[in-house]
Amino acid sequence: MVSITLSTPATGEYEQPIGLFINNEFVKSVDGKQFEVINPSNEEVICSIYEAGEKDVDIAVKAARKAFEGSWASVTPESRGKLLAKLAELFEKNRELLAAVESLDNGKGIALAKGDISSCAACLRYYGGWADKIEGKVIETDSNRFNYTRQEPIGVCGQIIPWNFPLLMWAWKIGPAVATGNTVVLKTAEQTPLSALVAAKLVAEAGFPPGVINIISGFGRVAGSALTHHMDVDKVAFTGSTIVGRQIMKASADSNLKKVTLELGGKSPNIVFNDANIDNAISWVNYGIFFNHGQCCCAGSRIYVQEGIYDKFVEKFRERTAKNVVGDPFDPKTFQGPQVSQTQFDRIMSYIEHGKSEGATVEAGGSRHGTKGYFIQPTIFSNVQPNMKIMQEEIFGPVCSIAKFTDEADVIRHGNNTTYGLAAAVHTTNLNTALRVSAALKAGTVWVNTYNTLHHQLPFGGFKESGIGRELGEAALSNYTQTKTVSIRLTDAPFS
Ligand code: NAI
Ligand code: MG
Repeated sequence: MVSITLSTPATGEYEQPIGLFINNEFVKSVDGKQFEVINPSNEEVICSIYEAGEKDVDIAVKAARKAFEGSWASVTPESRGKLLAKLAELFEKNRELLAAVESLDNGKGIALAKGDISSCAACLRYYGGWADKIEGKVIETDSNRFNYTRQEPIGVCGQIIPWNFPLLMWAWKIGPAVATGNTVVLKTAEQTPLSALVAAKLVAEAGFPPGVINIISGFGRVAGSALTHHMDVDKVAFTGSTIVGRQIMKASADSNLKKVTLELGGKSPNIVFNDANIDNAISWVNYGIFFNHGQCCCAGSRIYVQEGIYDKFVEKFRERTAKNVVGDPFDPKTFQGPQVSQTQFDRIMSYIEHGKSEGATVEAGGSRHGTKGYFIQPTIFSNVQPNMKIMQEEIFGPVCSIAKFTDEADVIRHGNNTTYGLAAAVHTTNLNTALRVSAALKAGTVWVNTYNTLHHQLPFGGFKESGIGRELGEAALSNYTQTKTVSIRLTDAPFS
């Protein structure tokens, strides 16, 4: 196996695969090229790993094609379900290690990383449960014909994931794809490739036939582009920026019109009415923006508070945010670790500078945290105008804007004033307000008196420029199957 010995503060030494996982083996890239993986807590190099180039992508796609047409096609739905259940069990068994590698490479707090691993296991097990429940229909037209539909797998799926939830995105993508009988070439994000390779070992251990799940490390413009332009990839599922989402649709159009599903950015409104339980609302608003260091596509980054409680809310929210523990991901008390990379750190700091220069008021934070690592103070802006950059663009960091609203119509207008439509939330004790506002907000998920409480059974995805298709729940299955209609003539007669 192509691997090295690394260590994490939580687990000590472990074996880290550094090759590309193709056909259940870790292999070197064809040209032997490697790239460095950085620890965001101290900006130091953790190790170097093999980078997939165009030829490696082609080898992985061929492996996936061979499995799709061969060994995987003869595995029964029941057995696919058992394999996913086994993989889920192995995630649970290796939870400490997977979480520690996630914290090392991504910087997320170890307690949150462990939560991610449990969610991965739940997601994989859930889709394993669907594997033998993919059913077609019999459709009556007339007495001369017998018609039925089959929900067939699409084929070889290219999956491209981001760095904010390296393993959770892995599970969200792989679960529904293999449950429905597809094969996969998954490219991880260049910032966080390590945990996916540890998980790849578990794929082989679970007993998946070679070629069903292939995991490659590499860059978007090289391996990502090769995968999305490939003529023998039948579908691409992507999570990441809206800019790259557009490039992926173009790549599909320029190649074989592969099916595309996209889970993109957001600028989600989090709305607090006068009648909300203010302490509860503050705790969810805080979690809504600062969870995962603000690196969530559904982050509640635009906070609208009704005028009757606005001043009290701002004061209490500042107090709450000051209690968020920022620091070493391996301290179990840490809530907020470093941002994932220098690039993301610089991007967020530049948004903070923009907010200041455009005249918004810094209520909390506004600077780097410490002197080493990509840490940023939880930052709250007030006095923001709707057209300000910090109110319009996805910051993807621990930065939010808070604004005052007068009435329901006013806040619905502001809430929907965005090109995005991923998530939204309403905090109120009035059921009618909750239902009316939930219906009026143009977003794929609306939370009421809660935030960021995603669940593998609940569909997740975007309205407007936040994406195409849905992940999770039964809804995701339709992104990985295609309907075939079979129509049979019941009488032996020629066309007349
Ligand atoms: P990105 O969209 O460039 O990266 C996400 C994935 O796409 C990575 O695996 C990357 O290698 C791949 N990729 C990049 N260019 C590609 C291409 N031309 N063809 C195929 N694959 C390609 O996002 P990035 O640069 O890491 O972050 C930039 C911003 O994107 C963030 O600040 C945030 O606003 C947003 N983002 C949103 C995410 C979400 O969960 N919806 C996740 C990550 C980033
Ligand atoms: Mg890293």
